[in-house]
Amino acid sequence: MRMFDLITRKKRGGMLTTEEIGALVEGFVKGEIPDEQMSAFLMAVWFQGMTDRETSDLTLAMRDSGDSIDLSAIPGVKVDKHSTGGVGDKTTLIVLPVFAACGGVAAKMSGRGLGHTGGTIDKLEAIPGFRTTLSETDFFAIVKREGLAVIGQSAELAPADKKLYALRDVTATVDSIPLIASSVMSKKLAAGADAILLDVTVGSGAFMKEVPDALRLAETMVAIGEAAGKRTAALLTDMDAPLGRAVGNAVEIAEVVEVLNGGGPEDLVTVSLALAANMLVLSGQGDYDACREKAAKALSSGAAFDAFCRMVAAQGGDVSAVRDTGKLSQAKYTEEVRAAGDGYITHIDAEKIGLAAMTLGAGREKQGDSIDMAAGICLKKKPGDQVFEGENLAALLTNEPERFAAARSVLADAFRTGEQPPEERPLVLARVTKEKVETYYSGGR
Ligand code: URA
Repeated sequence: MRMFDLITRKKRGGMLTTEEIGALVEGFVKGEIPDEQMSAFLMAVWFQGMTDRETSDLTLAMRDSGDSIDLSAIPGVKVDKHSTGGVGDKTTLIVLPVFAACGGVAAKMSGRGLGHTGGTIDKLEAIPGFRTTLSETDFFAIVKREGLAVIGQSAELAPADKKLYALRDVTATVDSIPLIASSVMSKKLAAGADAILLDVTVGSGAFMKEVPDALRLAETMVAIGEAAGKRTAALLTDMDAPLGRAVGNAVEIAEVVEVLNGGGPEDLVTVSLALAANMLVLSGQGDYDACREKAAKALSSGAAFDAFCRMVAAQGGDVSAVRDTGKLSQAKYTEEVRAAGDGYITHIDAEKIGLAAMTLGAGREKQGDSIDMAAGICLKKKPGDQVFEGENLAALLTNEPERFAAARSVLADAFRTGEQPPEERPLVLARVTKEKVETYYSGGR
């Protein structure tokens, strides 16, 4: 196999065999295929795509590039959950405690933020003492005892994805359906759960900006999961505006706690309950309506908050800081974004809000940068809200006030207003399973 020939074939729209894809992944992980050739191959895939068979072969080769976790020692149906990324997306930290409070079992490996999107592991580290690295023995013991634990993804899990993702990130090849599908599913298959729920985000803050692309991604990933013997479902959820009001790390933990105590922003509660209910369906706890009711009860009764506190304590976190979120890291400096005129908020650009939060210190511009746990943005207005000139639209938070100017320039045009409120669109746009695609929005695919 000559890498040159594989690049040429893909560039011209041809197909690679299973063996060729296996050799390509192996060669890249071993360092035998240099970055420049792999970059050219990734760009050829970006333009030409891959067949379902090729995407599946790529996923399995990436899964097999490292260790796979065997969760069979933990009793129960283990359900994993994965979001393709978003802004203000803290659903994992609500959904898993709800699921565990209903008797579900979740052994979750999460990632860190990248670019404009936040990461669950960074958010959890805003809780003083919380350990996101555990030995396998401790991880399993906590999941067995509490029904949930969340740790960072180990470097041994799908190392091909780690290497490929770093290259995609700098070669503008992240937003490709076969490349996202193989990246997500290689990790999910290696993580060992019995069933997988995917949250495929769509809109300005997501990698998939349009519903048809998001649907195609969801269908591709569901097909890969099912072919590998895992019950897999996907929800398409709206990420045109940030989810909830808080974007950052400590501020998102505070919002998680609000929701787990029966409050919080309506959009975040709606999406979290839909995800939790679908995880319960996958674990065999009944039909959607019954599972949605169970999930809502777990929130309103405080059972989900108790599950969250037990996980925090088990992973070394300071429970008093989640019971009183005023104890979490607080920003020294705050500035307000004010409305330029009267009207209704018609759009809040999630990507710009995510980038501005990163600029304030809440995220990393490149891997290895440190982050300011207190930095971020708190939205005071959401799409559909009426505003008057000079009203506060958002609070910008940071410990380094010299960052405000750059964040403000990123935010130019992030808030759009009009004379009429925007048309409402559902937060959950579709549900994809092996059997069918249910759509909840009007208009064709
Ligand atoms: N999330 C992933 O894990 N991989 C991608 O390629 C995109 C989002």
